[in-house]
Amino acid sequence: MLPSEEIKEKLDLVEFLKGYVELRPAGRNYKGLCPFHNEKTPSFIVSPERQIWRCFGCGEGGDIFRFLMRYENLEFYEALGVLAEKAGIDIKRGASADQRQFNTLYEINNAAKDLYRDKLKTSKLAIDYLKGRKLEDKTVSEFEVGFAPQGFDAVTIELINQGYRMEDVVRAGLTVKTEKGRYLDRFRNRIMFPIHNHFGKVVGFSGRIMPGGDSEMAKYINSPETPIFNKSRVLYGFWRSKKAIRQERKTLLVEGQMDFLMLWQRGIENVIATSGTSLTQDHLKSLGRVTNNLVLAFDSDEAGLMAAERVIDMGGARDFNVLVMGLGKYKDPAEAAESDPQFLKEAIAGAKPAMEHYFDYYLKEEALKTAANKKEVIRKVLEKIANLSSGVERVHWLRELSYRVSIPEAELLTETEMLALETEPEEYIAQDNQEKRKLSRSELIAERILHILSNRDDLSECVTSYEQYIPETYLQIYKAIINKQELTGEAMEIMNLVSLYPDYDEALRVGDIRREELEALLGELEYEHLNTIKERLRREILIAERRGELEAVNEKLKEFDDTMHRMQDIRHAKEN
Ligand code: CTP
Ligand code: MN
Repeated sequence: MLPSEEIKEKLDLVEFLKGYVELRPAGRNYKGLCPFHNEKTPSFIVSPERQIWRCFGCGEGGDIFRFLMRYENLEFYEALGVLAEKAGIDIKRGASADQRQFNTLYEINNAAKDLYRDKLKTSKLAIDYLKGRKLEDKTVSEFEVGFAPQGFDAVTIELINQGYRMEDVVRAGLTVKTEKGRYLDRFRNRIMFPIHNHFGKVVGFSGRIMPGGDSEMAKYINSPETPIFNKSRVLYGFWRSKKAIRQERKTLLVEGQMDFLMLWQRGIENVIATSGTSLTQDHLKSLGRVTNNLVLAFDSDEAGLMAAERVIDMGGARDFNVLVMGLGKYKDPAEAAESDPQFLKEAIAGAKPAMEHYFDYYLKEEALKTAANKKEVIRKVLEKIANLSSGVERVHWLRELSYRVSIPEAELLTETEMLALETEPEEYIAQDNQEKRKLSRSELIAERILHILSNRDDLSECVTSYEQYIPETYLQIYKAIINKQELTGEAMEIMNLVSLYPDYDEALRVGDIRREELEALLGELEYEHLNTIKERLRREILIAERRGELEAVNEKLKEFDDTMHRMQDIRHAKEN
């Protein structure tokens, strides 16, 4: 048996999910509030019989692995590791070559971490450096900070002596092979900050050069990406700070390990850092499980400001509530924490909403003096407002902007529409929607249609004239169902989930209730289709108008009217 199957046999999905979601019995199933989207009425359903879960609000669903992967933002093998431990199964024994490789990488990183910690104990220079930077022993040991000695291959040799194979040590990123075929320690003469994954296992390192080290060398060197170290997923310190972040309902985001550790040491424990990369959508996803409130504490240099702008825009698009804190005369949070903890606490309390930060940053008096300049900066701010995912917030900040620049809201709105036509949606938003694989409205409707058909194939003739509106994947399944073919692969998975829709057994088998429901759903499907056409036409008309292409405008207006009428007909049919 595969380890994943063995795990599923040992762990009960309902029991497991109860650790994450409050579940109540609902007939043969359980119900709760979906952790993957905001909702007030429960649409998260768990089937103990099938050991699967499904949210009818956002369309997410799957087995115990899928849940943990989505919830904690893990790869399959990571989820496997966590669940195997929970189930008391030793995956190493029957493990595939792949899993053994992952385990070796964890082991080597852990062994290296221990070595670096030992080396720190015997290096007076390194100890003095950390003292000089005001890092306390307690912090150093809590976060397992160490020291990579000078020399060429001390650590490599020790790891080999511990029995690890050279190719694995290289794969783990601790050793590099030179062109001449020599093996060298990647990290030499550096303070070593282990990077732990969100479960506390060391997956890589960030090494800071010692003062007086070779000035040609980068100040920080990070482990390369490995199968266990994905920079765009892991957040430095999150394994320890999760709890405080939950309690405080917000997190501080800083740029570096030193910032993180200095804040932690001052009792500010709701903090995370990215390491060696800028914040990504994956980071935000992990974070979003714990809090949506983000306080940016980036360095006060130009790079810090630019990084902040990126995070604000990404956060705003994901409905994060982003605040920006000022650092006064200090260059970074570490410095402020070291020199003036009181100031730091006040600065955190006084952090301002990201939009206000933009207002202050872009709408300086200087910038508003000439019309051309004014237009430019206002457009910049409008772009930021348009990017917010919350409608309430957009309205709020538009009003605020109108006050600040003394331009009526209506004018600003027109300007925003122009902007929307000119700019393509930001790449990261588009990417993300794909990733989320949220079901579109048409897809949700198609699922409900399939659910009815899977119980009542006598109704399939109702669907014939609507086939063109069924999204591709579902159309395939529909054809398989009416042709009584076996479902495989993705189709089977989808139907497995579809089967979780609440059913009223009796009503399903007989009578016309189902037929009526089906007809209404088919109408909805066509309506959705028309709606998409209508929105496309709306854009096309605006563009044609701006270009002065009157003939095209008239043609499209007529199409627009026709579409609207057909949509109204569908609505009327439904009401009567
Ligand atoms: N960083 C990096 N590679 C570099 C420089 C920086 O990966 N060449 C990352 C490190 O994670 C670092 C963070 O960016 O912690 C912030 O960089 P910087 O402000 O230069 O470092 P500080 O945290 O201020 O480090 P220190 O106080 O030790 O100078
Ligand atoms: Mn810094």
